[in-house]
Amino acid sequence: MCGIVGYIGQRTAVDFLLEGLRRLEYRGYDSAGLVTLDENGRMDVVKATGRIDALAEKLEETPLRGSVGIGHTRWATHGPPTVENAHPHLGGENVLAIVHNGVVENYQSLKDQLIDHGYHFRSATDSEVIAHLIDFHLQQLGEQGDATGDQRYVTAVEESLSQLRGTYGLVVLFRDRPQIMIAARLGSPLVVGIGSGEHFVASDGSPLAGYTDKIVYLADHQVALIRADSLKVTHRDEGHVKHRVEKLQIHASNLDLEDYPHYMLKEIFEQPNSLRDTMRGRLCEDNATAVFGGLNLTAQQLRQVNRILLTACGTSWHAGLVGEYVIEEMSRVPVEVEYASELRYRNPPVDHKTILFAITQSGETADTLAALREMKRKGHPTLAICNVVGSTIAQEADGGIYLHAGPEVGVASTKAYTSQLLVLTMLALYFGRLRHLSYEAGRRIIRALQELPDRVAESLNCNDEVRRIASKYCHENNFLYLGRQYNFPTALEGALKLKEISYIHAEGYPAAEMKHGPIALVDEHTPSVFIMPRDFVYDKVMANLEEIKARGGPVIAIVGEGDTRVAELADDVIYVPNVEPFLQPFVTIVPLQLLSYHVAVMRGCDVDKPRNLAKSVTVE
Ligand code: G6P
Repeated sequence: MCGIVGYIGQRTAVDFLLEGLRRLEYRGYDSAGLVTLDENGRMDVVKATGRIDALAEKLEETPLRGSVGIGHTRWATHGPPTVENAHPHLGGENVLAIVHNGVVENYQSLKDQLIDHGYHFRSATDSEVIAHLIDFHLQQLGEQGDATGDQRYVTAVEESLSQLRGTYGLVVLFRDRPQIMIAARLGSPLVVGIGSGEHFVASDGSPLAGYTDKIVYLADHQVALIRADSLKVTHRDEGHVKHRVEKLQIHASNLDLEDYPHYMLKEIFEQPNSLRDTMRGRLCEDNATAVFGGLNLTAQQLRQVNRILLTACGTSWHAGLVGEYVIEEMSRVPVEVEYASELRYRNPPVDHKTILFAITQSGETADTLAALREMKRKGHPTLAICNVVGSTIAQEADGGIYLHAGPEVGVASTKAYTSQLLVLTMLALYFGRLRHLSYEAGRRIIRALQELPDRVAESLNCNDEVRRIASKYCHENNFLYLGRQYNFPTALEGALKLKEISYIHAEGYPAAEMKHGPIALVDEHTPSVFIMPRDFVYDKVMANLEEIKARGGPVIAIVGEGDTRVAELADDVIYVPNVEPFLQPFVTIVPLQLLSYHVAVMRGCDVDKPRNLAKSVTVE
């Protein structure tokens, strides 16, 4: 949600800002804006509602030349998505500009105080208070005269931040100080890219790709004073800190659409490779187990774990449900899966042998972060299963496992989901091998995992057939998704995918539960998608399928290759490769991702940027 970019150097800032904002589009937004500053102190602001294209059109009318600038995509929280509410916001007599991500919880009382001091507010946002507050402190410091040069600006920002309650990723520009830019973070991600004689700021690393591979992840309570040729970071409590420069792991080519019409389709088709990347170097045939470099717990400590808590939101929560099945089956360690939004406010009885895994693609989801912090506060080891390197959750967890799935741009998660499933399956193997799982069983699981990317590639062969099926059902407005055991979470995820990008009402259920309510919905306009590759509950699911057919409901079935029985009953059948039950979620989700994709395209929906949704949900 919301994206920030900033530039200071020799280039025309607007070029980087606009491209950077486009690369952050995936985070979700409903208006955008930017401001540039030239060496003569000329400050130009351009804002637009809707897509970045609308902002780009306005910029064609008013080309901006400054070589310092900040930009923002806004996902409305306080006040509707209007030009007035879009960022940047100007402070005082237009002497400074800010862009802000996060929420200022005490904005109303600060606003009242600033109004009393004579400030005029132009927007309904909480963010605008930050702009005026900084101006207020600048004035005060000017009168006192005990802070001069750049320090006066840094102190004004720091004093303002000390008054804020809430979260911020913040960048500030000053009209009479075009040679500096100040960035600060608390709970909202911000990175600084180091170029040669130039610096970049962004909410995550993707805007930097192709510009620099040197990245600094700012931590909470840090303030960065950025000039074209220098970067100085201070921490609220520690004073000046030496910043760590890391290597950006995103390449510009990762963000290229290639010949695909949408990122979502590209990412669905990337899955064989993203799975290979997730697996790389993590399977040890000699010991018939998995290896993870960053758990930061010894095998001895992990053997003592008697309960695993998985917490997540959305698609990542569905991955957790599959994790529950596979970890319990392979390792016999009891697993619980909790929505992070529930866990954060609950006080479940958890003993000292419980560990928490937070599963999150972005590493920024506010509820998941809060649940992790709550468990950490109670002294439990917290680990992250995360895709975005250097993200807040990755930084705050005691240890973790990166997905290495590559950047996921489509809002609806696809390749990150299958990589999450893979990490959880490798964890199950690892925990299993610390306990009762035999060497031989471990080797068998490893062999199956090594073949998995090829099986997923084969399941992509159904694309044409799925497109045909999509055209048959794309006008329906209700879908049911049904599966059992390993395929129950897949039913939930398939339904969520359809909902997210095509705005069709869809519900996922364990197939047998259908009799307890959802069957009342069945009619000739409510297709049921059965996920039923051959396994030990196949005959039971077949009985459920018959119940739907008996009530006139159309059936689309996902089955294993060579299955002939289902085709006799179902209206449409999609074949996927036969794999062991614990790998079924990897191959059965592919046709469901494709189904939602094609239906959404046929309904004219904005597949990669669905309405109201954000990829990175940084508010509660
Ligand atoms: C949002 C996204 C979903 C994602 C969920 C959790 O709702 O639109 O695709 O599954 O957040 O995000 P996370 O980054 O924590 O996995």
